[in-house]
Formats: sequence, C-alpha cells, structure tokens
Amino acid sequence: MSFFLKIFKLLPPESAHSISLSSLKLLYKLKLLKFFTKKDFKNNEYHFEGMIFKNQLGTAAGLDKNGDFIDALGELGFGFLEVGTTTPLPQDGNSKPRVFRNYNENSIINRLGFNNKGVDYLVNNLKKRKYTGIVGVNIGANKTSSGKQRIDDFLICLEKVHKFADYITINISSPNTPNLRELHNEENLKILISALEKKSNEINLNIPIFIKISPDESEQVLDNIITAVSESFITGIIATNTTTSKLKIKDDEFKLIEGGLSGQYLMDESTKKLSYIRNKSNNMPLIGVGGVMSKNDFFEKIDAGANLVQLYTGFIIKGPSLIIQILKD
Ligand SMILES: Cc1cc2nc3c(=O)[nH]c(=O)nc-3n(C[C@H](O)[C@H](O)[C@H](O)COP(=O)(O)O)c2cc1C
Repeated sequence: MSFFLKIFKLLPPESAHSISLSSLKLLYKLKLLKFFTKKDFKNNEYHFEGMIFKNQLGTAAGLDKNGDFIDALGELGFGFLEVGTTTPLPQDGNSKPRVFRNYNENSIINRLGFNNKGVDYLVNNLKKRKYTGIVGVNIGANKTSSGKQRIDDFLICLEKVHKFADYITINISSPNTPNLRELHNEENLKILISALEKKSNEINLNIPIFIKISPDESEQVLDNIITAVSESFITGIIATNTTTSKLKIKDDEFKLIEGGLSGQYLMDESTKKLSYIRNKSNNMPLIGVGGVMSKNDFFEKIDAGANLVQLYTGFIIKGPSLIIQILKD
C-alpha cells in the first residue's frame, strides 16, 4: 500500500482522493482487499448508545460523502463509518482547486463546500451496502438555503436517511457553507433542535442523533450547546470539524489558503474542546475528531473523554497502515 501512497502524493488532491478510493473499491470487488488488510485485531467490541461497534475508531464525515465506498472502507478494519455530508439536492460545491494537502505539516485545507450527489443517491448506496458494521450519516443544508429553508433541509435529510442509518449527525460546523456556523448561536440552535425533535416524533425516530461542532467557538457558546443538548432529545456531540485558524502553519503560502484546516494542528484545540465538554458533562455521549495522526493521539482523545474517535486527515496522509497502528496491541 505504501507504494501506491507515494504515487497518489504526486496527483492533485481531489484526483488522488477519488483514484485511491476507487482502487480500494476495485480491490474489494475483486475480493483482493482482504489480503492487504489486517483483521486479527484483538476483540475491541464497544457498546455505545444501543449500538455495537467493532472498535472505537471510525472514519470522519467527508471521506465518503456519497456512500460510494462503504463496503471497501469497512473492510479496512474501521469500527464504524460516517458518510456524508449529504444535502437534499445534489450540488457541485466551490470551484476547484479546493483541497490542498501539506504532507510536511500533516495537514489539509479544504473549501469543498458540501459537494455531493444529494440525499437520494446516498440512500440508494446505504440500501445496497453489504458492510454490517455501524454506519452514521452526516446531514447538512444546501448552500442556497437560508432561514427556514435551511432548517427544512436538515428535516428532509433526517426523514430520508433515518431508516438506513445507525446514527445521524447534524452538521452545523462546516466553515465552507456561508453562515452555517450561525447555528451554534443559542437562539438558532434552539430553533433547529426543536424542529428536529418535532420531525423525529413524527417519524418515530429511534436512532441516536449527534451535533457536530466547530473548534472555533468560545466557552460561552460551548456552555450553551452543552445545555441545549443535555435538555433536548439530541444524544451527544461530535467535536470537532475543521478550524479556520491558520496560526500554527509554518508554510507561508499554505497559511494563506482559504478554507478549513484539519490534521496535526487541529489536535490540541479539538481535544481541548472535547475535554471541556467532558468536564462539564460527565455522561454526555462524545465522539472525538481532529488531528489524530498516531496511536498516542487516539488515546489522548479517549483520555479526554471521547467514547469514539474518528479520523480523516491522518488516514489520507498516512494511509490504511494508521488503522493497524492504532488498533493493534
Ligand atoms: C477534504 C475534507 C472534507 C471534509 N468534509 C466534511 C463533510 O462533508 N462533513 C463534515 O462534517 N466534516 C467534513 N470534514 C471534516 C472532518 O470530518 C473532520 O471533522 C476534520 O477533518 C478533523 O479531523 P481530521 O483532523 O482527522 O481530518 C472534511 C474534512 C476534509 C479534510
């Protein structure tokens, strides 16, 4: 696999992403992928919110936005997968180039803007999946939706995916959809949660729902979110999405790129937010994500209070060997 990783590094990031995932899918279809993956991890089964996870390590949203690679990614040893973000209507996202990798600094900056094929396409893939592990679905709003329509977008996705998902994530934290992060504000969040609760009652929703937050919010905002979640039907929090802070980046050109930063520089801030939430709420179900590049990072998230941990950038930069490194004894 490391040979392929070297080749993929030469390609533009978005092409590398689709070619590498398509190659995994081909290997899976030819029944060859199992020969490249390690399966004999010790039993790390983990029970959480009524779900049984093979282990506590999963993929973060964005890696497989349309659910095209569920079976192949599932074969790599992850304990669960989160697909999406999906929106009611298909959309192209921002103009290219919009993903930038920095291998020296273990970082990615992206301003994709929720490019995806729409919720119906994703649901079709969810129905076809053979993977028997946990699959969460991350839902969002179309770029052109604002006000009430933006709330309705979440409701449309919730209704369409709930029968085919093990849990659902409400994404209010992408920095690349204008004004989406306004949903962190107390009043807006209350309106969103109450609309979600009404819809959930209507459709007899019986799976957990998480809210995925930004790492760039103040403690005051976090306090409001913790209270809002604790007092509502929402199950828990995913902390965090990418950051708009570029202060730690060393490369002067990379620093100037617009978009959300993920990878090693996000580790401290996202873990700080996770730990803050855990200290305020001992029993809040929590999924930690942001900057996991090693086994140590994985356990730092667990020690900070994460029930589950997700990765994206670490998987892209280090490849599938990172899964083995984290999960082996
Ligand atoms: C290219 C790219 C696309 C992403 N797309 C999404 C997305 O669609 N929805 C979402 O909730 N998070 C998305 N994320 C954020 C990740 O899920 C994750 O929260 C963030 O990258 C921090 O984790 P990491 O440092 O392990 O990458 C994306 C991240 C990257 C790098």
